[in-house]
Amino acid sequence: MNNNTGTPVTVIGLGLMGQALAGAFLKAGHPTTVWNRTTSKADQLVAEGALLAPTAGDALKAGSLTIICVTDYQAMHELLGGSDIELHGTTLINLTSGASAQAREAAQWAEQRGAHYLDGAIMAIPPAIGTAEALILHSGPQSDFEAHKSTLDALGTVTYLGADHGLASLYDVAGLAMMWSVLNAWLQGTALLRTAGVDAATYAPFAQQIAAGVAEWLPGYAEQIDSDSFPAEVSALETDARAMAHLIEESEAVGVNAELPKLIKAIADRSIAAGHGGEQYPVLIEEFGKPRD
Ligand SMILES: NC(=O)c1ccc[n+]([C@@H]2O[C@H](COP(=O)([O-])OP(=O)(O)OC[C@H]3O[C@@H](n4cnc5c(N)ncnc54)[C@H](OP(=O)(O)O)[C@@H]3O)[C@@H](O)[C@H]2O)c1
Repeated sequence: MNNNTGTPVTVIGLGLMGQALAGAFLKAGHPTTVWNRTTSKADQLVAEGALLAPTAGDALKAGSLTIICVTDYQAMHELLGGSDIELHGTTLINLTSGASAQAREAAQWAEQRGAHYLDGAIMAIPPAIGTAEALILHSGPQSDFEAHKSTLDALGTVTYLGADHGLASLYDVAGLAMMWSVLNAWLQGTALLRTAGVDAATYAPFAQQIAAGVAEWLPGYAEQIDSDSFPAEVSALETDARAMAHLIEESEAVGVNAELPKLIKAIADRSIAAGHGGEQYPVLIEEFGKPRD
């Protein structure tokens, strides 16, 4: 549907993600103004009904809600930092990926220029934008989020995390840490099983079940972390460490990479050396909560 009866919205940055965002707004019936440094990337959107602004400043003036999605924060500042750009009164939602400190600094910068600013993170690929699968995180003033939530709903499952502008970026990287950890653990197991002729497809459903089972533990373990109390209700860390040694030995014996199991065991060993061997696994938060190269 593109009957253009919705709230006007501007999208600045029409890379792969920006095009998907603008396309979703158009599809949901929002009059959509677009701008991109390379103008040709707007062609398809213009054919679908978008209005191409001649400059980024003109795009901002087209309405009171602007989404920016460019490569990085430096590009955003290059684009919107000029004195000819008027941000006063506009709501700027920055869906560019970056660090939490960059988000907080951008919020100060935008607010000093009179803008309402929300920072965001997109946990989805462009083809998912506009579907419930697309998780889009926002942080900043709640009133600014609520004021535009019904418009943002066109993009997917939009979520508000809190007033601290850095939260969207932090949740974003926390999600990536989870994703790579699960994938790496699965690859380790797959490599082990392939040495015995078990193919990846055979192991995948078993691995899925294990991952889902472990995910069930998280709320209970989170309670231990939040209360800073780690009684060994099901297993002590030193028992886990013996199983880690077994994983290392097995990996080396069958000739697969043992780097990841060794890293996991090194972290547990430090915690045991600090006297936590009789406590439960989440006590490792103390190791994860401090810097180490
Ligand atoms: N693609 C994904 O799957 C995905 C998923 C989650 C989050 N993201 C995030 O979304 C953001 C955009 O990603 P993308 O996939 O759309 O990247 P992309 O296809 O490489 O597009 C980058 C965009 O940034 C613009 N840009 C870069 N430097 C600029 C500058 N100095 N001045 C003006 N415009 C500049 C580009 O303009 P030109 O077209 O003129 O080069 C283009 O519009 C990134 O922060 C990315 O991490 C992407």
